Amino acid sequence: MIIEPRMRGFICLTSHPKGCEKNVLNQIDYVKSKGAIDGPKKVLVIGASTGFGLASRITSAFGSDAATIGVFFEKAPAEGKTASPGYYNSLAFEAAAGKAGLYAKSINGDAFSNEVKEQTIDLIKADLGQIDLVIYSLASPVRQHPVSGVLHRSVLKPIGDTFTDKTVDFHTGIVSDVTITPCSDEDIANTVEVMGGEDWAMWMDALLNAGVLADGAMTVAYSYIGPKVTEPVYRKGTIGMAKDHLEATAFKITDDLAKIGGKAFVSVNKALVTQASSAIPVIPLYISLLYKIMKAEGTHEGCIEQIQRLFSARLYTNGSIPVDEKGRIRIDDWEMNPEVQKEVAELWKGATTENLTAIGDLAGYKSDFLNLFGFGFDGVDYAAEANEMVEIPGLI
Ligand code: NAD
Ligand code: NA
Repeated sequence: MIIEPRMRGFICLTSHPKGCEKNVLNQIDYVKSKGAIDGPKKVLVIGASTGFGLASRITSAFGSDAATIGVFFEKAPAEGKTASPGYYNSLAFEAAAGKAGLYAKSINGDAFSNEVKEQTIDLIKADLGQIDLVIYSLASPVRQHPVSGVLHRSVLKPIGDTFTDKTVDFHTGIVSDVTITPCSDEDIANTVEVMGGEDWAMWMDALLNAGVLADGAMTVAYSYIGPKVTEPVYRKGTIGMAKDHLEATAFKITDDLAKIGGKAFVSVNKALVTQASSAIPVIPLYISLLYKIMKAEGTHEGCIEQIQRLFSARLYTNGSIPVDEKGRIRIDDWEMNPEVQKEVAELWKGATTENLTAIGDLAGYKSDFLNLFGFGFDGVDYAAEANEMVEIPGLI
């Protein structure tokens, strides 16, 4: 069928298999253009199908010749209905890995469940023996707890006070005030259950106990800090409490991994347009101002540039891994540059519907958003019939 973007709120209901393939191939080309990394050889990526997780899988495979197992939760195609983009991304990744002679298999299911953890361990035992890197890159609004069975829902709310500030509807370009009422204590606990570190620790515990972690194995999860303007809804809001928990969990996992000489890290990454971040109020306006400034400065990066730099300049340098005073890897260094932040803060004050296309990179935001779903790529014939029914061979 001919596939066009169909928007509903913060999501796009359709995705384009050829465009998603193009997105993956572009990222592979980028990683190859940067040269080989003396990196991991057997990698498990949890949250491997989009955003930072996909970029981690691509960087491992095409930067370091690694065998990869990817875990994700994506919708398969049905007659007349496209798959979710992460499905087509993973299909394209596996095809490219296969062509390059690299092992790649994927598991599509709920990573929070015991069952998917067991399936993953079985697959590692059968095919790879042991792994040397685990990337934890889940972003989800819900988690069913594997022990209690409770379905926890995360919320994006401020803590304590009502928050009012500007936001942009990036589809229409309209800048307006948004008011978000503060969360309840239960909201905080639920958000920590979903996006905190418990599931990461459960994964690492299961992998360690199964004997499928190589000596010196490393694990990395992703976090975000960001600017003052987003603090009430992000770092000091409910999601920030979950990120605090995730960051604290790294130390606990490092203690647990001591017997194999392993280590857990959190990497603080840059703000980027992903399915997860588009749904957070205020963040799209911040990102559109930030993009404008960083592009002008020549320091703008997407997920693949961020992760390629994380691997080559932080994790696998043959030296020690640089961390901040809280033990975190910082690859958000260019975003958090005080000069950049000063400029964003100034532009923020004056941002309106009328001037945003001039002072911000709304076009860049929109284009990145379409790209997430495989739309807007050069070299893809969107007027042509596309086969939405393509499937990932051997998907578990
Ligand atoms: P994303 O939405 O692009 O990717 C989420 C991944 O998780 C997908 O592969 C999805 O299939 C998978 N997933 C979701 N629920 C699942 C489940 N139940 N079982 C298995 N897989 C599941 O998100 P992203 O923006 O790449 O976020 C990844 C991490 O990076 C998050 O921790 C996020 O907070 C962090 N981060 C994001 C930004 C940003 O600006 N986007 C910045 C810094 C850090
Ligand atoms: Na991801």
